[in-house]
Amino acid sequence: MGDIKKGLEGVVALDTSISFIDGLQGILKYRGIEVEHLAEMSYDAVSYLLINGILPDEQELTDYSSRLKNERFLHHNMADVLKICEFGIESLDLLRTAISCSAHFDTEKDIHSPEANINKAIRLVAKFPTMVAALERNRIGVEPIGPNNDLSHGANFLYMLTGRIPTDLEAEAIEKDFILSAEHELNPSTFSLRIAASTLSDLYSAIICGLCTLKGPLHGGARKGVMDMLDEVISPDNAENYIQDKISKKEKIMGFGHRVYKTYDPRAQVYKDIARRISLENGDTVWYDMAEKLEHIMYHEFIELRGKPIYPNVDFYSAVVYKYLDIPSELATSVFAIGRVSGWIAHCLEQYSDNRVIRPRANFV
Ligand code: CMC
Repeated sequence: MGDIKKGLEGVVALDTSISFIDGLQGILKYRGIEVEHLAEMSYDAVSYLLINGILPDEQELTDYSSRLKNERFLHHNMADVLKICEFGIESLDLLRTAISCSAHFDTEKDIHSPEANINKAIRLVAKFPTMVAALERNRIGVEPIGPNNDLSHGANFLYMLTGRIPTDLEAEAIEKDFILSAEHELNPSTFSLRIAASTLSDLYSAIICGLCTLKGPLHGGARKGVMDMLDEVISPDNAENYIQDKISKKEKIMGFGHRVYKTYDPRAQVYKDIARRISLENGDTVWYDMAEKLEHIMYHEFIELRGKPIYPNVDFYSAVVYKYLDIPSELATSVFAIGRVSGWIAHCLEQYSDNRVIRPRANFV
């Protein structure tokens, strides 16, 4: 057997037309379009692009958005399921259970035709925000709120979470968050669900694989890690000590470093801008100032002193945005998943369309 690449670093496992990353130049494209450009569109348009392969025209977007809105509501039995899901555990564990239960209310769960898969895809994209908001409201002991179909995908999520119509900037921030989180080539969660899909397991099962893998602190769980770090640092004045302490204990600093990017993650730049704007609107820039200070110290310690390309990744400034949106850290990975589900679905559909079971080998030692 050939050389083993620990962590499959640099291994190319499949062809994809869903996204492209140039990790040296900091370029990310979904279906050939730069993510910075996509961040100016609606999540519905980007979700359509990922799942269908092309941007929708005006009529297609109207139809897609209205199908999503019709599917935002949960099956009436799900209200009870979500209530009994309150086990006092992290939100992503609840979401995983909720998605699993919701599959049983989908009459097309085990129908694998392309039409049935698109119907299930739309249900999943539409219901993720409703479930996450309801789980959180149950957790804090208040009644879940139904969707408001006058609002966009992102704004409606914030409305269902807080009961308040978000400001224009808050709505823009969460919509951009969902778009920037939507897709990232063969990251761990996407790879895990492509393996599930390659066994011809159903779409719900594959998505649950993705959720379970997203949870880890080295992947999507890092967003919660950054929020917790900001709570621990408290003030920009403590940033230096915090980083030096982590370095001396050889611990990772959450929200920094990437397997593929050896330069600034292009998503982090967009998040940084929105974090700065929302901090100014909020009139309290402490979270943003603290993050900038942490970034400067990290730059000095790793890039200038050690020559290691450790830049902020997607989870760093997104966590600052979540702070300003009052999203609790326990919810961060689930909110990440709301955006990511469109990319996950696109990868499942791509896997089904030209399938061979993914089954590598191991070297016996
Ligand atoms: N803080 C301190 N040192 C770091 C960090 C960090 N965040 N990231 C990498 N390093 C160091 C690491 O200690 C190692 O040093 P040495 O060569 O002296 O042993 C070197 O850089 C290479 O690190 P690695 O862990 O071998 O790199 P990897 O490609 O296996 O892992 C990573 C990539 C993202 C898991 C890692 O950078 C990390 O753990 N970062 C913190 C967690 C995080 O922010 N995860 C989010 C990932 S991106 C978005 C997502 O997936 O959701």
